[in-house]
Amino acid sequence: MSASPKIFVAGATGLLGGQIVQALLDQGASVRALVRPGTSDEKKRSLTAGSGDVELVEGDITAPVERLAEAIGDATTVVSAVQGGPDVVVDGQANLLRAAEKAGARRFIPSDFAIDINKLDDGDNFMIDWRRKAAAERTGTDIEVVSVLNGAFYEVMVGFMGIVDWEQGTLSHWGDPDQPLDLTSVADTAAYTAAVALDPSATGTLRFAGDVVSMREFHEAVQRGSGRTLQLRHLGSADDLRAEITRQAAVAENPFDYVALQYQWCMVSGKGKFDQLDNDRYPHVKPQSVADFVAANPPAN
Ligand SMILES: NC(=O)c1ccc[n+]([C@@H]2O[C@H](COP(=O)([O-])OP(=O)(O)OC[C@H]3O[C@@H](n4cnc5c(N)ncnc54)[C@H](OP(=O)(O)O)[C@@H]3O)[C@@H](O)[C@H]2O)c1
Repeated sequence: MSASPKIFVAGATGLLGGQIVQALLDQGASVRALVRPGTSDEKKRSLTAGSGDVELVEGDITAPVERLAEAIGDATTVVSAVQGGPDVVVDGQANLLRAAEKAGARRFIPSDFAIDINKLDDGDNFMIDWRRKAAAERTGTDIEVVSVLNGAFYEVMVGFMGIVDWEQGTLSHWGDPDQPLDLTSVADTAAYTAAVALDPSATGTLRFAGDVVSMREFHEAVQRGSGRTLQLRHLGSADDLRAEITRQAAVAENPFDYVALQYQWCMVSGKGKFDQLDNDRYPHVKPQSVADFVAANPPAN
């Protein structure tokens, strides 16, 4: 019997990376997971607690290439689920790619995991700009780079975005309530990423969505899943949102204050919408709907 493919995961201690490690193990891979020096024993234990074949290696994607290449070892595919500023997303991932080349890995999955980054322009969303810049730095590599896109996490849509306010009992949105949006849970994004990592024929950019719903349908799904009634509030058009972002950007001390609005604009304007989905490539991944996700993760209050 042939040995299970070995996949290297950077960002394994993160929200998505931890679930990618789990999904890879569930799908029969061996995993070598990069953890930064100083990672707590509890986090390390959570990565190795199951029965799968997972090995932890200490390191940092900004470390010297030779050292990072040693950490990658004989892994055939490098998956990056890192998060950070341009030092991590652009320079760090360029360094990680060089280390992957040196180690002899064949494929690299960058930390993209977003709406359609290829359809957006610089200035639409500064965090997505970094991902396109990182992609430009990979031009000419011999490694097969496969980008996995998932739209927005369900977790982010009911949390960080500030769309759902359980206390006030509202769901507030910008733009056309009937504009379709690509959404996926973290677990299903991880399952698709693992499937891509284990698929030697995967190439280019692959796009997945657990559910494609408009804001009106999202509202209905969240109500159905939670059993709660939420007032649907329309905050203005996509153009109004763009003007609000410009207004906030002019006064904000920290661009992270308005990045959630930039993500929303990219979605509700339709600009970052996927033209097609690749879900059918991996029928063994059966993504949860928004309603089922909310039912399984009910609001705390
Ligand atoms: N589509 C969506 O709605 C959505 C939402 C959220 C995130 N994402 C994307 O998903 C990806 C992962 O995000 P996340 O939320 O899972 O991030 P996260 O929870 O913040 O985790 C980031 C990971 O990167 C690691 N890391 C940071 N700098 C590093 C370095 N220099 N060397 C090695 N590791 C480093 C962190 O290690 P430590 O634990 O040591 O800090 C951690 O494991 C990103 O591409 C992000 O944009 C997408």
